[in-house]
Amino acid sequence: MNKNSHIDGELTQEFLEGLQHETPFFVFSKKQILENYKEYKKHFPHAMIQYAMKANFEPEILEVLNEAGIGFEVASAYELRMLKELKVDPKKIVYGTSVKPASHIKEFFEYGVDRFAFDTFDELAKIAAAAPGARVYARMIANDAGSVFQFSEKFGTEVENIAPLLERAKELGLQPYGISFHVGSQASNPMAWASAIEKLAPVLEQLKKMDIEIEMINIGGGYPCAYASAEKNITLEEIAEHTMKAFKKLPYQPKIMLEPGRGMIANTGVVVASIIGKVERSGNTWLFLDAGAYNALYEAMVFQGSTRYHITSMRPLYNSKEVLFAIAGPTGDSLDVLTREALLPQDIEVGDKLIIHDVGAYSLVACNPFNGFPKPSVYLV
Ligand SMILES: Cc1ncc(COP(=O)(O)O)c(C=O)c1O
Repeated sequence: MNKNSHIDGELTQEFLEGLQHETPFFVFSKKQILENYKEYKKHFPHAMIQYAMKANFEPEILEVLNEAGIGFEVASAYELRMLKELKVDPKKIVYGTSVKPASHIKEFFEYGVDRFAFDTFDELAKIAAAAPGARVYARMIANDAGSVFQFSEKFGTEVENIAPLLERAKELGLQPYGISFHVGSQASNPMAWASAIEKLAPVLEQLKKMDIEIEMINIGGGYPCAYASAEKNITLEEIAEHTMKAFKKLPYQPKIMLEPGRGMIANTGVVVASIIGKVERSGNTWLFLDAGAYNALYEAMVFQGSTRYHITSMRPLYNSKEVLFAIAGPTGDSLDVLTREALLPQDIEVGDKLIIHDVGAYSLVACNPFNGFPKPSVYLV
C-alpha cells in the first residue's frame, strides 16, 4: 500500500480527480477509519471492540486500527501472522471461527492468544488439547433472516446446548468465558442483536446453577453499510439502543464484545476505474471497466448479486441527462457484472473514470487474478 500524507483524508471527487495513478486503484481514508471506530466506542462505550480482519487486512489499515487501540477478531493462523508482523498484543486478539484446524489453535496459543470460539463438544476437546486452560466462548445460532449473508446453517448451536457446552468446558479445565452470536452480515433488522440477547436470560440463570458466571457476551458483526442494494439503512445508534435495552434486562451484565468487519471498513474506501468499452447490447448500454468482480469487487459478482455499489462519474457532465447503464468487469466471464442499473451521465465515454463507493469490505481480501487481471494498487490517505 502507498501512503499519501499531504491529504486531509476526505475522499472527495476533487481530491480523487487529482490522483494520477494508473487505474484501477483503491483509496482508503484513515480519517474515516478512525471516525468509524469512534462511532462504535460512542454507541457501545464499555464494549471490547474486535475488528473482524477478514473484511480487509491491508497491513496499513491494520496498523491504523492497532495504533487506535482496537482489538482483532482473527479467522486463521495466516491472518494471525499478519498481526504478529505488526507485533499486535495477543491479549487484544480472539480466534473467532468456531471450527478450526488444531494446528492453528496451537499457533494462536503459543503466541499468547487465549480466547477461542467453539460450538461443539468435539471442538472443545480440540481446544483443551491445543490450548490448555484457555478462555472459551460458545457460539449460539441467531436469527439471521434479515441479513444478506447468513451463517446459521454453518455455525452456531441451538440455545439449549450453550449451558451444557460451557459446563463441559469447565470439566476440561478450560475457562467458560462467554457466549457469542452473529446475526449475519449486512443485516437489515435493527432488532436482530436484541432478539438474540433476549434468548440468553434463561441461559445465564441455568449457568448460575452450574456455578458458572460468564464474563462476556460477543454480539458479533453484521452492522450494515448503506450500499445502493441496501433494503433499508439502519444506523448503529438504532442498533445500540435496542441492543442495550435487551442487555440491561439480563440477570447480570457481562462485558459486551463486538466484532465489526464490514461496518468498520466498508465506507472507508473507493475504487477508481476507467471505462475501457461502451457497447449497446441486449437492451442495455454496457460500460466495461478495468475493475470487476474478480480483480476488485468480489461481492458484486452477479450470481450472488449481494452488493450493488453506488457508482459516480469522475468527470462532471452537467449538460448530459442521467440514464441507466449496465457495468461489467474486464474478464471474459459472464459472472463479471457489477450491476445493470447504474445511473450515470448519458455522454460518458471510453477513457472516463468512475468512482465506485463503499468498497472497503470483502473486496481486496478476495481479489482473484482470473484472466490475468491483477489486484489493484491500494493507497491510504
Ligand atoms: C466470527 C465473525 N465475526 C465477525 C464477522 C464480521 O462480520 P461483518 O463483516 O458482518 O461485521 C464475521 C464475518 O464473517 C465472522 O465470521
